[in-house]
Amino acid sequence: MKPSLVVLPGQEYLGEALLELLDMDRVTTTIKEFPDGECYVRIHTSVNQQIVFIAGSLNRPSAKILTLLFLAAKLKELGSRKIVLIAPYLPYMRQDKEFHAGESITSIYFARLLSTYFDHLITLDPHLHRHRSLKDLYQISSDCLHSAPLLADWVRTHVEKPVILGPDSESKQWVKEIAKLANAPYTVLLKQRLADDQVTLTGTDLSDFPDFVPILVDDIISTAGTMTAAVGYLNKRMTKPPICLGIHAVFSNNAYSCLLSKGVSKVITTNSIPHESNGIDISSLLASAIQRYMLGSISKQ
Ligand code: R5P
Repeated sequence: MKPSLVVLPGQEYLGEALLELLDMDRVTTTIKEFPDGECYVRIHTSVNQQIVFIAGSLNRPSAKILTLLFLAAKLKELGSRKIVLIAPYLPYMRQDKEFHAGESITSIYFARLLSTYFDHLITLDPHLHRHRSLKDLYQISSDCLHSAPLLADWVRTHVEKPVILGPDSESKQWVKEIAKLANAPYTVLLKQRLADDQVTLTGTDLSDFPDFVPILVDDIISTAGTMTAAVGYLNKRMTKPPICLGIHAVFSNNAYSCLLSKGVSKVITTNSIPHESNGIDISSLLASAIQRYMLGSISKQ
C-alpha cells in the first residue's frame, strides 16, 4: 500500500520534496478562508483505508491549527486507517512550566489536543528541556528526528577550524553532538532571559580558540535575542565573525535583518520552516521516518 500525503497550504516545498523522494499518493484538498475568517476544508481524494500523512511546519500556529484539526477529523470520517502528523517544527514546546502563577502550561495542553486527532507524530529536534521526551507530553507514538548529522556535515564541508558554541545550557545537547560529528571542540555560554526579546550572556573562557571560526548553534531562532547577544559576546572576544546555525528559522518580525546587521558572517538554517536563510535540507530525514512508519504498520498487520 502506498502512503498518502496531504500538504498544508504554504508548505508545498515540503510536499514536493517528499513526493520526489517517495512513491506517495497526493491527496488534493481545497483549503480557504471565508470572508468572516472561518476556514473551509474539503478533501477531494479517496483516503478510505489509507495511511495518511499531513505535512506542514506549525510555526505561527494559531493561523494553522484549526485547519489542521478539521483536516484530520475529515480524514478519519472518510475512513483513513491512520493519520500521521509531520510537523518539522513543533510549536508550544517552550512553555513547559508555570514560570509565573496562573500561566497555562501550553506544552501539555497542545500535546493533549494533537494527541486526540493524530495516531503518530514525526518531528525534528523539538525543544525538549524540562520534559525529557515527547512521551512525557504526547499520548500518541512519535518519531523525534535529529538534525545534528546534517548540521555537522554542513560545518565539515564549509568551515575550516570551527569551534561549536551554544548560547545556553539547553543547547549543550545538540552542540555536543554536532561537535563530535564534525570533529571540532565545543563550549556553551550562560544565558539569562530578561524579557521576550532580551537576554544577557556570560561566559566561558575562549582563549583556547584564538583563530577558530565560531559557529553558534541554537535550536530555535525566534526574536534572535539569544543569537544577537551571543554574537555581541563573541565579537568582543574572538577575531573571526561568527556563523549562526539554527535548526528552526522561526524569525519573528525583523529578527533576521537585525541579526544580519550585528556582525555575523552568515546565518544558515534547516528548511524545517521555509526561510531565505535555509541552507540545510531535511527532506531525506522526513522521508526515512515515513518509510519507518509504513514498515512498522505492515509488520503489525
Ligand atoms: C531557548 O530555550 C531556545 O533554545 C532558544 O535559545 C530560544 O528559543 C531562542 O529564542 P530567541 O531567538 O527569541 O532568543
